[in-house]
Amino acid sequence: MLELSNLSVKVGSKPILKRLSLHIRKGEIAVLMGPNGSGKSTLAHAIAGNPNFTVGRNGNILFEGKSIKNLPPEKRAKLGIFLSFQNPLPLPGVSVLDLLRLAREGKEDPLTLRTRAKAYAKELGIDESLLFRSIHDGFSGGEKKKVEALQAGILAPKLLILDEIDSGADVDALRKIARFLGKHRTKESSILIITHSTRILRYLKPDRVFVMREGAIARSGTSVLATEIEKKGFENI
Ligand SMILES: Nc1ncnc2c1ncn2[C@@H]1O[C@H](COP(=O)(O)OP(=O)(O)O)[C@@H](O)[C@H]1O
Ligand SMILES: [Mg+2]
Repeated sequence: MLELSNLSVKVGSKPILKRLSLHIRKGEIAVLMGPNGSGKSTLAHAIAGNPNFTVGRNGNILFEGKSIKNLPPEKRAKLGIFLSFQNPLPLPGVSVLDLLRLAREGKEDPLTLRTRAKAYAKELGIDESLLFRSIHDGFSGGEKKKVEALQAGILAPKLLILDEIDSGADVDALRKIARFLGKHRTKESSILIITHSTRILRYLKPDRVFVMREGAIARSGTSVLATEIEKKGFENI
């Protein structure tokens, strides 16, 4: 599904990712863990195609066997990649439903979409009035993360990247978000959970765990590795 090879990424002139390789298979839940500043969000932005992150010439990003390295972010989104941001930015004047309508144009009629969004809001325990407000504008930390999950549920991407969907969400919010994502994912879709804590893994069991340190994958393994991190911390892994 997603194959990163030899990926080096710079922000401006600052090298952040260093020849990183990683493979996520179809239908898999993978988790990328690592201390603050290890480059996790940079990796997410590079996959999504954020132009502020420059990918080195020798590295590649394959999605379903094709290189997406030179595609703009909107084309990557069209192929089925959705990134939920660590710090989602407000878009004043654009409601949650507006954004969903745009993304689903031609795929779902507006009434069905609205009904589905309302049902999902209920599942996530957020007031449906949020759907009509400017996205992320004045939303609480938990509401932001729930709305990110709601978008993921509606869009049903092939690859869902969750950059710290757990930060800013309290225990109940996190449980609701994780169960919601687990319930609405299809067998063919893959999820990359990016986190520095193992909290969310109680509800979404990872098939594969990657540990990042200083811009490269330092360790990879099964969910046992996540348990080890919980006990020992990143420094002793
Ligand atoms: N826009 C930017 N400008 C300069 N440095 C950046 C920028 N974005 C990220 N970095 C740096 O890259 C490193 C990795 O950051 P990040 O990918 O956000 O780490 P993580 O998500 O693992 O906490 C940090 O040292 C951070 O300061
Ligand atoms: Mg980050």
